[in-house]
Amino acid sequence: MAKMLNQAPTGNAKLLDWVKSWVDICEPDAVYWCDGSKEEYDRLSNEMVESGLAIRLNPEKRPNSLLFRSDPSDVARVEARTFIASAKQEDAGPTNNWIDPVELKKTMLDLYKGCMHGRTMYVIPFSMGPIGSPIAKIGIEITDSAYVVINMHVMTRVGTKVLEVLGNDEFVPCVHSVGKPLEAGESDNGIWPCAPLDKKYIAHFPETREIWSYGSGYGGNALLGKKCLALRIASVQARDEGWMAEHMLILKLTNPQGETKYVTGAFPSACGKTNLAMLIPTLPGWKVETVGDDISWMKFDAEGNLRAINPEAGFFGVAPGTSMKSNPNAMLSCSKDTIFTNVALTDDGDVWWEGIGYDAPAHLIDWKGNDWTPDMVDADGKPVKAAHPNARFTARANNCPAIAAEWEDPQGVPIAAFLFGGRRPTTLPLVYQSRDWEHGVFIGSTVGSEVTAAALDVKAGTVRRDPFAMLPFCGYHMGDYFKHWLEIGKAGAAKGNLPKIFCVNWFRKSAEGKFMWPGFGDNSRVLAWVFARCAGKGDANETAIGFLPTEESIDLKGLEGEVSADDLKELLKVDVEGWKNELAMIKEHYAKFGAKLPAELTKQLEGLEARLG
Ligand code: OXD
Ligand code: MN
Repeated sequence: MAKMLNQAPTGNAKLLDWVKSWVDICEPDAVYWCDGSKEEYDRLSNEMVESGLAIRLNPEKRPNSLLFRSDPSDVARVEARTFIASAKQEDAGPTNNWIDPVELKKTMLDLYKGCMHGRTMYVIPFSMGPIGSPIAKIGIEITDSAYVVINMHVMTRVGTKVLEVLGNDEFVPCVHSVGKPLEAGESDNGIWPCAPLDKKYIAHFPETREIWSYGSGYGGNALLGKKCLALRIASVQARDEGWMAEHMLILKLTNPQGETKYVTGAFPSACGKTNLAMLIPTLPGWKVETVGDDISWMKFDAEGNLRAINPEAGFFGVAPGTSMKSNPNAMLSCSKDTIFTNVALTDDGDVWWEGIGYDAPAHLIDWKGNDWTPDMVDADGKPVKAAHPNARFTARANNCPAIAAEWEDPQGVPIAAFLFGGRRPTTLPLVYQSRDWEHGVFIGSTVGSEVTAAALDVKAGTVRRDPFAMLPFCGYHMGDYFKHWLEIGKAGAAKGNLPKIFCVNWFRKSAEGKFMWPGFGDNSRVLAWVFARCAGKGDANETAIGFLPTEESIDLKGLEGEVSADDLKELLKVDVEGWKNELAMIKEHYAKFGAKLPAELTKQLEGLEARLG
């Protein structure tokens, strides 16, 4: 019999029955209902430090911060082990892994049976979005990981208040176990618990809105509010209820006259969403403030404005490459109250990672817990990395100096523009605007990013198509998802205020392989043109691919010498041959969706082909 560590702070019969049913299956030693308090965060943190799972960083260097080292088999989202188990395979579509839900539940129930022996089951009531917001949703995660509990404290709104708002209503049930039951008297001994890769399952049941996760304790596999609920399940809810759940940052842009516009942006993972959301403009008088860096939920209000909330409360950011130069606001966000995972530890109790902006000290403990010195090389003669390339910081949004005052407005912020982009060394210009909504959906549906052979099992230089940056996150058939975007356009057009749609590319390279655009804070120059276009200003030429800025309309003051007039011409031209090649790639990409590809998108493709001549 599991020991009840506290009383269930709810009378919601469905919730109580659901928790009891999982106690019966998982057989934890104890059950604890999380209240979301600081006392709870501190107590669980101290327990993990005492058990050797976490290291408390030097409070003089990183106040109130912890370092965790995960298992080398558990360092990232596991897309190959992520499933959309819809009743019919065709509803998951060609871009998702599918297993029959009855079969998958049977397999997973066998794994869940007794999986929490020797552990406490934590029940985490959480709200995605400000508690009580008309756009927010409530989930309940049960987990046997205290690491998950404290991360959920930062990434979502956790606690008893959520249960008060929930009352007797529906919630999204989320089940999580690290998949490492303990024998009597056994403990983790400071080693990150998880199951082997072939026993890991990140499962979504779209019809019943359930999430079952087993075997991983890491990030999006285990913090079930993020990718599982706020994108995969929410995308299904959004389709059915007429709203949008998108893999998008949200930023507030203020011009020198003090006028503001809110912009969202969808970019594939690792294309700089966090950097863009926290950008410090080099253009004098402009300001960017952050509303969110990863996910945007949007609904039309009574006036027909599409209003967005950030359903999260923190940032789960990639540490390597983050520095005071690339993203000072992210560095300041994780200067205290932060959970680090898989970064390196300095001898004086601070953290270090590749690309932090200063040299590594003479000695570190690397992400695997081994001694590390800067001269170390692996069997191939390559430098040994001190931090894992996907090492993360979990930081509170409230600690971000650039956080917008209205970031928790329950009504959300009105969106003026959507940006789509990826890493495209060739063909795609620095920025262009879609001809209209339908053409914007075409642009979103063809988003791609260049991958290296090392990152994925594909030829170097290949473009990985990642429509709307939702490839790993859409909970249903991608062709139906395109249709949903087209329907939102029709609903919005009837109401009046649809956002304008733009494509941006910070990653163009010259024939010599050098980046042609400085990026980072200088991307404000592109944002300024987007702002102007949304205000009915900003000069543009209508071209075959859409509206391209005139060369004079991108403000390059202060960039002389870095971006020459010839470079700018190149960045803003239609590369007809490149686009013809692009058309061929888009056709190949579209062929995957068969009859589910909306006719409007085929028409867009044909229109582009005809305009290119
Ligand atoms: C993320 C991702 O961690 O998109 O946000 O992979
Ligand atoms: Mn993401």
